[in-house]
Amino acid sequence: MKYIQIGDMKASQVVMGVMRINDAGKDPVAAVKAAYAGGINFFDNADIYGQGECETIFGKAFRDAGIKREEIYIQSKVGIRPGIAFDFSKKHIIEATEGSLKRLGVDYLDSLLLHRPDTLVQPEEVAEAFDELEKSGKVRYFGVSNQNPYQIELLKTAVKQPLLMNQLQFGIMHTGMVDQGIHVNMTDTPHSIDFDGGLLPYSRIHKMTIQAWSPFQYGFFEGVFVGNEKFPKLNKKLQELAEKYQVTPTGIAVAWISSHPAEMQTVIGTITPSRITEVCDASDVELTREEWYEVYLAAGNILP
Ligand SMILES: NC(=O)c1ccc[n+]([C@@H]2O[C@H](COP(=O)([O-])OP(=O)(O)OC[C@H]3O[C@@H](n4cnc5c(N)ncnc54)[C@H](OP(=O)(O)O)[C@@H]3O)[C@@H](O)[C@H]2O)c1
Repeated sequence: MKYIQIGDMKASQVVMGVMRINDAGKDPVAAVKAAYAGGINFFDNADIYGQGECETIFGKAFRDAGIKREEIYIQSKVGIRPGIAFDFSKKHIIEATEGSLKRLGVDYLDSLLLHRPDTLVQPEEVAEAFDELEKSGKVRYFGVSNQNPYQIELLKTAVKQPLLMNQLQFGIMHTGMVDQGIHVNMTDTPHSIDFDGGLLPYSRIHKMTIQAWSPFQYGFFEGVFVGNEKFPKLNKKLQELAEKYQVTPTGIAVAWISSHPAEMQTVIGTITPSRITEVCDASDVELTREEWYEVYLAAGNILP
């Protein structure tokens, strides 16, 4: 497992996300045990996952797995009120965070992210909420999710704490963040469309860790591309690299993300222990430059 420095944290490059930890028929304790045994020390939650149920399940699972609170980093996210509003008000940020702490059964979060942009945001309110949460010891570090550079700059006009991470959809079949940087000013292809205001270079310049969510999905939760007959060329390439590096195609899908020099974390959502282990086993694989671009092209992308 590779580890990256985020604040004072030596955080695993692979993160276990718990959005699906309440899936029927899954064994949460076995999943958390497999993750920890594979070197994962960073766990991503959100107040809305399973309407709070996922935090409760994870909070119990890590204890039942025999893991001590201080041995892992626990992150959660607030700011979405499903079907009602996005809410970055001071009141909501504080109350939602306190709800997460209660469900998780912990005194503090290592990091708290603002989940999805609230267009009605008042940066001063976010700043007050963060100050209060930091002062009370309830949150150690702060970050955002699904936000573009100007939205982050807007928050920074009032927020004093460094914003250390931005959680974004990124993976072999969701490459907008790199496409536009490869196809700058090419007017004959949609690849040049700037969907995010230059997030990839912005994150590198400002030392914000990108946390890539849904790394195995294509579309917005349309399905998994690994082993999917809709993507024969890509799967042939993943298989070829898996054989070369003695890992699995699932592992290569994560190695493709961690081989990018931006030092991203990959937030995996599988709750199947053997798959978690496959990913951990491949986490040290460094694809070559040529292999990285071969996978990019096999996914159906083009180069100018
Ligand atoms: N910030 C945000 O807005 C945002 C949005 C979405 C998600 N997230 C975070 O990202 C995490 C991951 O999201 P995700 O679950 O959508 O992503 P994912 O890791 O791409 O997908 C995992 C799902 O794919 C299934 N799967 C089937 N075949 C697989 C294979 N070969 N390899 C891996 N998984 C396979 C898994 O099933 P099994 O469990 O049966 O293996 C699981 O249901 C979430 O838990 C959450 O923490 C953040």
